[in-house]
Amino acid sequence: MRNRIFSGMRPTGSLHIGHLSVLQNWAALQDEYECYFGIVDWHALTTGYEDKLDLKALIREMALDWLSVGIDPEKSAVFIQSQVKEHAELHLLFSMFTPISWLERVPTYKDQLQQLGNEGKDLHTYGFLGYPLLQAADILVYKAKAVPVGEDQIPHIELCREVGRRFNYLYGNVFPEPQALIGKVPLLPGVDGRKMSKSYNNAISLTASTEEINIRVKQMITDPERLRKDDPGHPEVCVVSKFHHIYTPDIKRVEEECCAGKIGCVACKKYLAENIDKVLAPYRERRLFWDEDGKVEKVLQEGAEKARITAAATMAEVRSALGI
Ligand code: TRP
Ligand code: SF4
Repeated sequence: MRNRIFSGMRPTGSLHIGHLSVLQNWAALQDEYECYFGIVDWHALTTGYEDKLDLKALIREMALDWLSVGIDPEKSAVFIQSQVKEHAELHLLFSMFTPISWLERVPTYKDQLQQLGNEGKDLHTYGFLGYPLLQAADILVYKAKAVPVGEDQIPHIELCREVGRRFNYLYGNVFPEPQALIGKVPLLPGVDGRKMSKSYNNAISLTASTEEINIRVKQMITDPERLRKDDPGHPEVCVVSKFHHIYTPDIKRVEEECCAGKIGCVACKKYLAENIDKVLAPYRERRLFWDEDGKVEKVLQEGAEKARITAAATMAEVRSALGI
């Protein structure tokens, strides 16, 4: 039997090309592992309980983002967390023996409490404290051995391992110890040089058309000291160049020409826009296929059915270990 993977994302807004490498990573794991990919809507509510999120629409968009990048429902279970109630049951059972202090000392807890508190969110809630415990249940309900995530999630995976270990110690060996699979995530800035974020209006959406890509690339900040086309440029301070590093196979040539003052910024940007478009075009195409009536709904329904079978088998073991 192949080892299992679980990973998830909160459906809080459409994805941009900064998220692309994570999804490409997931897609690449699908042959080697039995994959479960959950759209974690309960997690979205832990921080967004007041936001009146249009979760139905957000979930559909997220599923389309995933499918368009190559998450393949023939290979992997793609589903909505809240449709597999076993996650909630395991979370509840974990809460019986997880010390509050473990949750309070997860580094992201205090950081986020403060950061989102400054943005006017009151997160002194039971659900927010339990966020990583619900995440542990997401992972362990599939007995996943690996969890592909970004570096920021390491403390959460560590807590998950501790919770699993404590369960095994108290009730008998049920859970494996999942490993975080940290993929290479190149940090792309937004077109204005700040962090790429939809809320800064500086992101290139995964669904961007050729025209939208052109507009965004034109907005990118270039070497401020370069006034004329034949001035030598400094790619290391140029946002365009950071994108070339990911999207342009002959990046070396572009950099040399920039440094030698042989290529103008307008031409350089045009070339980048073409290269980004080459990557996104097949995704746009596949998105059209999945966007047809009822297809996403069917994927999510079948994904939940598949996930429930695995999760139910784990829960039978868990209940029996607990004697309930
Ligand atoms: N906390 C994760 C994030 O913000 C999302 C998540 C929820 C998750 N449950 C998970 C990731 C389980 C991996 C495994 O990105
Ligand atoms: Fe940036 Fe390209 Fe202009 Fe060089 S030529 S400064 S890499 S946009």
